[in-house]
Amino acid sequence: MRHLLDHIHEVPVHLIPCVEGRTDGMEGWQQASRWGSVIPAAWSFMLAARARGLGTAWTTFHLAYEREAAELLGIPHDEVMQAALIPVAHTIGTDFKPGRRRPLETIVHWDRW
Ligand SMILES: Cc1cc2nc3c(=O)[nH]c(=O)nc-3n(C[C@H](O)[C@H](O)[C@H](O)COP(=O)(O)O)c2cc1C
Repeated sequence: MRHLLDHIHEVPVHLIPCVEGRTDGMEGWQQASRWGSVIPAAWSFMLAARARGLGTAWTTFHLAYEREAAELLGIPHDEVMQAALIPVAHTIGTDFKPGRRRPLETIVHWDRW
């Protein structure tokens, strides 16, 4: 995250997945339905980019300034929500390794919570 923060201005492409219809103030199930319409598509894009040698990262930090970004980019803020900002660039090398993860049993619940 620190590296991305220091270098985000050097990234050649920033993808902002958007979804029509704002859910501000709506019930959780309505928000979940809307976000569920855009997040899988963005994730598919990230996997497709990876298959072509491009690295991506899911970020949401710019959403604190969603309205300003909308004005800058001509996105109709009152009708369209921005879901993320995904920097896209060729990776430096390919020696990736799995990220650190908490043990599975601390986050998986079987049959009941
Ligand atoms: C919902 C969500 C929001 C995130 N927002 C940010 C963000 O705003 N800035 C950031 O540097 N990383 C953010 N991340 C983490 C990055 O996607 C990424 O994991 C991180 O930059 C570290 O890179 P790495 O996973 O390749 O090690 C977010 C992750 C998730 C799941």
